[in-house]
Amino acid sequence: MNSLHGRSIVLGISGGIAAYKAVELCRQLVDAGAHVAPIMTEDAHRFIGPVTVSALASEPVHTSLWDDASPIPHTRLGQNADVIVVAPATARVIAAYAMGLSHDLLSATLIATRAPVVLCPAMHTEMWEHPAVEDNIALLRSRGVIIVEPQSGRLAGGDIGTGRLADTATIVEAVTTALNGSVKDLVGTSVLVTAGGTREPIDAVRVIANRSSGKQGYAIAEQAHKRGATVTIVSTVDRQTLAGITVVPVETAQQMLDAVSCHAPSSDVVVMTAAVADFRPVQAIAGKIKKDEGIPQIILEPTVDILGFLGTRKPAGQILVGFAAETSNLVDNARGKLKRKNLDLIVANDVSADQVGFGHDTNEVTILLASGEALEVPLADKHTIATAVLDSVSRVRMAHRPQ
Ligand code: PMT
Repeated sequence: MNSLHGRSIVLGISGGIAAYKAVELCRQLVDAGAHVAPIMTEDAHRFIGPVTVSALASEPVHTSLWDDASPIPHTRLGQNADVIVVAPATARVIAAYAMGLSHDLLSATLIATRAPVVLCPAMHTEMWEHPAVEDNIALLRSRGVIIVEPQSGRLAGGDIGTGRLADTATIVEAVTTALNGSVKDLVGTSVLVTAGGTREPIDAVRVIANRSSGKQGYAIAEQAHKRGATVTIVSTVDRQTLAGITVVPVETAQQMLDAVSCHAPSSDVVVMTAAVADFRPVQAIAGKIKKDEGIPQIILEPTVDILGFLGTRKPAGQILVGFAAETSNLVDNARGKLKRKNLDLIVANDVSADQVGFGHDTNEVTILLASGEALEVPLADKHTIATAVLDSVSRVRMAHRPQ
């Protein structure tokens, strides 16, 4: 699946001659399966007509803070965006963003988002090389904004120099990279992930197990690693993973509890993706139960709820993430677990749905935040789901950050 498929992109177009190139950018993003919400500044209207952009985008052009059906369009657009790309970004838009101004819809949306932002400056060489612009660009880069540098070539009025908007393919690639977790928002963060299903011994050869393959847990671990985190996986499955990720192999719920208890206190983020047995045989039989000894009676006892246990001793600032595998009342059941286990967010999947949950390469989830926010992530490969989960983790971390 294309990595832009199903992603929400806000395309900001500001008032420069390169605005006409944003039309082609919009078309390519939509062709790649993205939902594109365009914002044009008043000045952009001097260069291109909004009808052209509206016809190609996924929704009509937004321009004003005041004439949208929603009373707060900037927060709706900013919060729903998976990424914001501004092409072209004029010196004025760059300065406003660096200063945190919110005088129009585009500038307000830029500061009302926690999504990655890709800025594609385009202006005359003298402006691009002005110390004020250089300082603003440096400041924005230091805040994690991705700058797609302008290219050298013919500029408006026949001049030649640096300041041409980067070509469309380069911008699309930067947007894709931003969405794929090349954003290094987890540098300096330790992330603990559990993966796979526990196996509880009945006798020397038989176990109570479940269908978890570990794919979703490993996808989260690998995306977190790509975003700069130090990652440990407590895993019941033997899967290839990226160099640099520490794997702690376990088999039973008790072993997972022991390993998690050891690593969780020093972790900034804990993601319990594993399917942990709720019950285990009171005692595993030594040796193999013989068939001719009759039907065995296996007495079960509850295991410790690892996530619930972590929720009772969560260090300050730690983000605790659970999963909820449901077959009915997805959101209500998951919200119950979110509250009972003192989580920051929970990822609910309806494991009775086609291609969702156990064993599949794909998943479809609703991410529920303790704040009450809910985000539906449509059917996608498990790495895309992992990216969405980590985006939410990042948002919650930013919200918890001392001001
Ligand atoms: O591994 P895959 O094949 O890729 O499949 C992914 C998945 C379906 C396993 C994953 O998406 C998922 O839903 N994981 C949670 C499975 C589960 O056990 O859900 P639950 O609703 O029973 O548990 C809720 C939460 O409590 C989970 O975070 C679970 O890890 C945790 N738990 C449960 C029981 C227990 N004794 N201790 C726990 O910590």
